[in-house]
Amino acid sequence: VEIIESIEALWAARRGVGGRLGLVPTMGALHAGHLALVERARAESDVVWVTIFVNPLQFGPREDLSRYPRDLEGDLAKLAAAGVDLVFTPPLEAIYPPDFSTRVEVHGITARLEGERRPGHFVGVATVVTKLFALTQPHRAYFGKKDAQQLRVIRRLTRDLGFPIEIVPVATVREPDGLALSSRNLYLDPAERRAATALSRALHAARAAWLAGERGGEALRNTMWSVLEAEPLARIDYVSVADDATLEECARLTGPAVASLAVFIGATRLIDNVRLADDEPDPFAGAALATHQS
Ligand code: PAF
Repeated sequence: VEIIESIEALWAARRGVGGRLGLVPTMGALHAGHLALVERARAESDVVWVTIFVNPLQFGPREDLSRYPRDLEGDLAKLAAAGVDLVFTPPLEAIYPPDFSTRVEVHGITARLEGERRPGHFVGVATVVTKLFALTQPHRAYFGKKDAQQLRVIRRLTRDLGFPIEIVPVATVREPDGLALSSRNLYLDPAERRAATALSRALHAARAAWLAGERGGEALRNTMWSVLEAEPLARIDYVSVADDATLEECARLTGPAVASLAVFIGATRLIDNVRLADDEPDPFAGAALATHQS
């Protein structure tokens, strides 16, 4: 695997790419969820590039930028084993030179949920993703469904700015007990790790109610609240059942929706979601959710 840090070297590498380029943008601390993106890219592309850059612009002043997990050596070993062709690991000044003055802002869809709770977060995501797209010019780019709002923001900016890039969403990878994989799971102590299953249990309960015919937005949100409230280590940031396209909160579900939540487990803020739609495969197939119910 070729490792590149400078923008000039990246341009040169890009000029040498023949065939279809698949891009997997990451912030490192790679887990099986990232590797599922890489695997999908590998299957669909001639050349696979991964970027590793912990983007300060998408972290708020009181968030976890300074302690965000970093393991470049481990990441590179995983990516080499996964058959990645090139890894771009730019230093901060390559992405943000000292007088960097440009921001990309996606309106509307960023107003609620993560955008509301984390002011500036999506400007940071949209700006860095735009720069990575401009630098690497991939044919396809792969993003996890766990970041449901991020996925929609990136789809929107890709269309709005006219990037000829196909955005490919990839299913969330879960632990056997249902917990969605996240680099932030590394922050959890053993008791918190057990408590963190409350997120997937809440979503599972909402999905079960939806499958049984419940279409009331409030009823589905309440279903999630009651599962989360029963977990003493959990503090709810939000629960949402929103329209799949607009992310507007649903009073009644008349089409595809997304149930999502953000929950503090101790000091660690975790997010997760499930799409409530007839064409969505069961996200919990094979998970042993009941074993950890409190
Ligand atoms: O999902 C992430 O890891 C990040 O938000 C991304 C898309 C790599 C942008 O920094």
